Amino acid sequence: MAASQRAAMATRHPPRPKDRARIVENTIAQIEQEAEQALAAASRSEQVREISVRYLGRKGLVTQLLRKISTLPIQDRPRAGQLVNHAKIRMEGRIEKTLERIQHQVADDDRIDVSLPGRPAGLGTLHPITQITDAICNIFRKMGFAIAEGPEIETDYYNFEALNIPKNHPARDMQDTFYISPNVVLRTHTSPTQPRVMEKRRPPVRIIAPGKVYRCDSDLTHTPMFHQVEGLLVDEQVSFGDLKGILTAFVHDMFDARTSLRFRPSFFPFTEPSAEVDILCVMCRGKGCRVCSQTGWLEVLGSGMVHPAVFENVGYDTERYSGFAFGMGVERIAMLKYGIDDIRKFFENDLRFLGQF
Ligand code: DAH
Repeated sequence: MAASQRAAMATRHPPRPKDRARIVENTIAQIEQEAEQALAAASRSEQVREISVRYLGRKGLVTQLLRKISTLPIQDRPRAGQLVNHAKIRMEGRIEKTLERIQHQVADDDRIDVSLPGRPAGLGTLHPITQITDAICNIFRKMGFAIAEGPEIETDYYNFEALNIPKNHPARDMQDTFYISPNVVLRTHTSPTQPRVMEKRRPPVRIIAPGKVYRCDSDLTHTPMFHQVEGLLVDEQVSFGDLKGILTAFVHDMFDARTSLRFRPSFFPFTEPSAEVDILCVMCRGKGCRVCSQTGWLEVLGSGMVHPAVFENVGYDTERYSGFAFGMGVERIAMLKYGIDDIRKFFENDLRFLGQF
């Protein structure tokens, strides 16, 4: 047969049965090699599952090839079937191995390396307001004062009435009150701890009462919630001189001995006489600066001799006993001590700010 004839026959006729067997042989080898490469490159189990479907699934390449075997001459079928089936078994094994490899890899990534140095847990610090409150209380504790506490949700009676601030008294205007009900308020100051303690104890009384107070007020130097420390000392023959001595000792301990005090006459319904206490400006030492509004002095607390009306409300003998009281804002002291000009910084919870103290 001429070469041209043979070529024509090769194109005109499908492969002879013998050739068909060889084609199956070559094809399965090629498929197996491809699958192997794909599995070697797989890094996730989903990829492996896709490969499995592509080759061994119901419409997979290997499955299709197996179906073709029935078209082979009967004597070629066993060998071709064996070839394809063996390849299929090898591929199944490869798939399983690949899945195991990926699982191990994931486990390796998750494994804790016990030889690494530990990550340090950040040590927290006390809030600057807590630190200053503690410092104030400790100074008074050294002078024999005990700590007392009262509720933040307070009755109108203790917050105002017992402190000689009757209803409709203009002094109520000094404090913008949050009312919970007509007779219940968020305490506007720590002074209600005074009648609360005195109702329960006979003199001598020497207490310091720190805590949160609330006023409807908000700007650079006011927040609706802030902190005060109240002081109360009641005994026989307590004088204004004792008040001056105790407060001077406190200021010298809290700031330093060069920080002098100034008592200015003032008015509070629950003290008589009343005084506001200024300290020499801790920034400029009295020369005058922005912090003290060029006055050289800073107002830090209110104080006075306990008003007889307050003693009467708690059943103390006003002839026998006298006492003094004072109240100070903790934020104000903290701002002066640390040179902070915006009170709101204390409550924004920015760790970069809080971490400095
Ligand atoms: N409670 C007052 C206030 O919040 C401060 C005060 C003034 C307290 C005089 C006192 C005092 O104990 O005697 O403005």
